[in-house]
Amino acid sequence: MQKTIEFINEKTNNFKPETGIILGSGLGELADEYCDFAIPYNDIPDFIKSTVHGHKGRLVFSEIQDKKIVMMQGRNHFYEGHSMREITYPVKVMKALGVKTLILTNAAGAVNESFKPADLMLITDHINNMGSNPLIGPNDDALGERFPDMTEVYKKTLITTAEKCANKLGIEVKKGVYWANSGPSYETPAEIKMIRKLGGDAVGMSTVPEATVANYCGMNVLGISCITNAASSDTSGKLSHEEVIEAADSAKAKFKSLILEILKNI
Ligand code: HPA
Repeated sequence: MQKTIEFINEKTNNFKPETGIILGSGLGELADEYCDFAIPYNDIPDFIKSTVHGHKGRLVFSEIQDKKIVMMQGRNHFYEGHSMREITYPVKVMKALGVKTLILTNAAGAVNESFKPADLMLITDHINNMGSNPLIGPNDDALGERFPDMTEVYKKTLITTAEKCANKLGIEVKKGVYWANSGPSYETPAEIKMIRKLGGDAVGMSTVPEATVANYCGMNVLGISCITNAASSDTSGKLSHEEVIEAADSAKAKFKSLILEILKNI
């Protein structure tokens, strides 16, 4: 960790971000627009490179709305074959850099029948169905507890702030529970029915590992899903990654203005 932090500090002239944002599929534009320093993951000691199309794979530092921000433009996923520990290492790096609030974003499929493509959902809670947990293994007591409480992973105060910001901008936001599967296959119709019955509103393949680690090391988390498709049991056609990227693309303007307004108010 010390090697990673020293490397980043040298590249950024000791930039000290207070807020972190992880930008999901098709939502990386913010980091193109606001970019004072950018470091490709490939260059950073102990980071793993991003392989998915639509993910750029770099750490971007910038001052936005008078706040010092670090952004992950693209994230690593469990389904790429990396361990849960590896994919959540950047969250621990953000913590070590001084980040106190982490905004997690993702593209997700709708499970709740009232959701439609290009809707934004504030994550109120999650269900981890990925089959693993990023905190498995020896515990670093300096970072967090062995058995961390998970009662309020997604901070209510941040959700309220995000709702107020959305209202002010005239953007409609939904709220709901994010269900995480490992992927990479999308869900079968039977699985979608099960997720709906068990309380999931949206389904995706990310965010839960990062939220779990951020909560563990005492960060305040806000999660926003961009709904990119109706869940597979409800669509007449098949689901493709292209469709997911296209829907995220169509929501990116409102997504970006919401993030900017939130940054102004946290
Ligand atoms: N399922 C899982 N992950 C996703 C989906 C989906 O329907 N859409 C975007 N990411």
